[in-house]
Amino acid sequence: MTDGPAGPLPPLLLVGCGQMGGAMLAGWLADGLAPSVILDRHRDDIPAPHKVARQASDLPDDFAPALIVLATKPQKAAEILPAIARFARHAPVLSVMAGKTVGGLTASLESVGTEAAVVIRAMPNTPSAIGQGMTVCYAPPAATEAQRALCTRLLSAVGDVAWVAEEAQMDAVTAVSGSGPAYVFLLAELMEQAGIAQGLPAGLARRIARRTVSGAGALLAQSESDAADLRRRVTSPGGTTQAALDILMAPTAWPATMEAAIAAAARRARELAS
Ligand SMILES: NC(=O)c1ccc[n+]([C@@H]2O[C@H](COP(=O)([O-])OP(=O)(O)OC[C@H]3O[C@@H](n4cnc5c(N)ncnc54)[C@H](OP(=O)(O)O)[C@@H]3O)[C@@H](O)[C@H]2O)c1
Repeated sequence: MTDGPAGPLPPLLLVGCGQMGGAMLAGWLADGLAPSVILDRHRDDIPAPHKVARQASDLPDDFAPALIVLATKPQKAAEILPAIARFARHAPVLSVMAGKTVGGLTASLESVGTEAAVVIRAMPNTPSAIGQGMTVCYAPPAATEAQRALCTRLLSAVGDVAWVAEEAQMDAVTAVSGSGPAYVFLLAELMEQAGIAQGLPAGLARRIARRTVSGAGALLAQSESDAADLRRRVTSPGGTTQAALDILMAPTAWPATMEAAIAAAARRARELAS
């Protein structure tokens, strides 16, 4: 958890409580959330006083959320927007759906009778579940300072928060930090497999790969230094790390692969918007 503005978190309507919605909700519950409503057909473990609605028709009419958080798959947006439109007349909408644009979501809400709906976009990531998330937000000019502050307050309960001035930058953000935890988990998987290939017992390979990734991440988080400086500090010329980095850092190896991977993710984010 990071330092955010003080005070309890306001009541929310959380639409979709799967991987991402569930990760954020875990952080909000730990930080003290005013009685909220979660729309999700699977969750049956939401503690009172919060309520679960299995389907949109179960949403309580008298509920007045301070913010509506959209966290379903982007493909479900068309199904979900008419169902929450009546709440969006009185509360801003914070969408974490990859690729769904402010203009597209606003137009969809207007087409079902919600004029002047304010939609703000955010791209969180799953370490939000343990207060270590990275969320980047974009608000259109129509959003007020109070609405932006509300989003910052909420999202800073689950990690670090940054804002971009251009909505187009959200595709690159999605590719780097939204999808990024998967790249790091893959690194742990591959280090574990390579350790086994070098003759280590599977349990030990798993343990040292996991601890190395999490320990290096924690060191990076606590350090003022660039990642490149921390890397150089464990790389003696002619040593073992240097031997590995000569392979990983070859121009056609990790530098090219990571650039292509992030470009592919950003491209997919743009496709999801169309
Ligand atoms: N996963 C990540 O790391 C990550 C990171 C950043 C952003 N995001 C964004 O977060 C959003 C959610 O992703 P996710 O991976 O969390 O998806 P998910 O695990 O599928 O969660 C969505 C949940 O909402 C439920 N749901 C959808 N429509 C519903 C309806 N009409 N009524 C009741 N429940 C409904 C789904 O149930 P069903 O499965 O039965 O539909 C599911 O339980 C996506 O738009 C994604 O772009 C995800």
